[in-house]
Amino acid sequence: MKALLLENIHPAAVETLESRGYEVELRTGSLSEDELIAALAGGVQLLGIRSNTTVTKRVLDESPDLLAIGCFCIGTNQVDLVAAAEKGIGVFNAPYSNTRSVVELVIAELIALARRLPEKTQRMHEGTWDKSAKGSHEVRGRTLGIVGYGNIGTQLSTVAEALGLNVVFYDTADRPAHGTARRMRSLKDLLAVADVVSLHVDGRPGNAGFFGAAEFAAMKPRALFLNASRGMVVDYEALRDNLISGHIAGAAVDVFPAEPKAQGDAFDSVLRGLDNVILTPHIGGSTQEAQEEIGWFVAEKLARFALEGSTALSVNLPAVLPPELPSGRRIGLLHRNLPGVLAELNATFATAGDNVVDQHLATKDGLGYVVTDAAAPLSAEAIDTLSKAEYCMWVRTW
Ligand SMILES: NC(=O)c1ccc[n+]([C@@H]2O[C@H](COP(=O)([O-])OP(=O)(O)OC[C@H]3O[C@@H](n4cnc5c(N)ncnc54)[C@H](O)[C@@H]3O)[C@@H](O)[C@H]2O)c1
Repeated sequence: MKALLLENIHPAAVETLESRGYEVELRTGSLSEDELIAALAGGVQLLGIRSNTTVTKRVLDESPDLLAIGCFCIGTNQVDLVAAAEKGIGVFNAPYSNTRSVVELVIAELIALARRLPEKTQRMHEGTWDKSAKGSHEVRGRTLGIVGYGNIGTQLSTVAEALGLNVVFYDTADRPAHGTARRMRSLKDLLAVADVVSLHVDGRPGNAGFFGAAEFAAMKPRALFLNASRGMVVDYEALRDNLISGHIAGAAVDVFPAEPKAQGDAFDSVLRGLDNVILTPHIGGSTQEAQEEIGWFVAEKLARFALEGSTALSVNLPAVLPPELPSGRRIGLLHRNLPGVLAELNATFATAGDNVVDQHLATKDGLGYVVTDAAAPLSAEAIDTLSKAEYCMWVRTW
């Protein structure tokens, strides 16, 4: 069993896969399409990448041994997910592993802006001693408005409350309040009371440009603004105007509509050069702790898919989390989602005399996945019949 991990993935992934019996090859850089096809040719079942490796349909077509791809990051758009699903190749990522890292950066920035640290440190480096308390505030007792109360928004809510901030939030979905946070009925209501507004919405297309001139105008005078969610959700020209006019007292921005691709590339933004503005290169989730967490989390998902049939948290296959592995008595069938497959599957078991003791089915985007545990090792007859069925994409046994 072979795994290939590219792009300097954390050693925690190597340890996890080796402990499950995999022979792991670890490479530091990414590979081109041709190089990747060559590297996968020697029977590699599991591929680990980060954001710089593109897995095209051609790579998938020419890598018949590949079972699963782990994106050791949040995004998965570097993989042709449709082609992978069509081949029954599971794709996994780490959607929650850097939540805490983002929250800690936001908290640090919030305090830094309230104390006007970007300007203070800049003046010191320029050789000017400016000890004034003008415009510097504690965050205790201030109201933090969180827009988007998902994984990151809710954890920010808890940590901010521990610092003595009052938390209000707005989310388009129904989200329960954590601690003493108050849910606001509209974005406008939130903007009317928040001393600090922090965006944590997702990147759905409808969110493009959703925070612009009207929203900045609706914020309290001298409020602070933070965005560590997606660059495209904010009109940064409007933010710049409001920072220059002084309506917004400071801002921290980690994400941009167009971000440089490689380390050391030039960066430009209308926000460059403004006082009390923290600009960071999309590092909200970039910590050693998050990398380690991503390493074992994704490696574990890959191993459980390959060795136990679990598709839990797969981004492109129906999600089934079967119970503890009963060795030699489990069968997984990935199939086209057509009427009658489950009935036919169970009739096949019954005909072969296999007694089903546990069964889990999930469907997604035209695919169905069913994991069945039997009372005794499954008969070769049933496995053969199922693998020849026209709806079958693959059959695996564990
Ligand atoms: N800066 C970084 O390095 C970094 C790292 C991780 C995640 N992120 C980004 O942070 C954001 C939040 O991540 P998450 O894991 O908490 O996502 P999530 O999906 O758990 O939460 C997003 C929340 O926003 C809500 N929402 C969506 N559109 C909204 C709108 N227009 N108004 C109000 N609420 C809205 C959703 O209902 C959901 O509750 C994402 O955009 C993600 O890409 C950035």
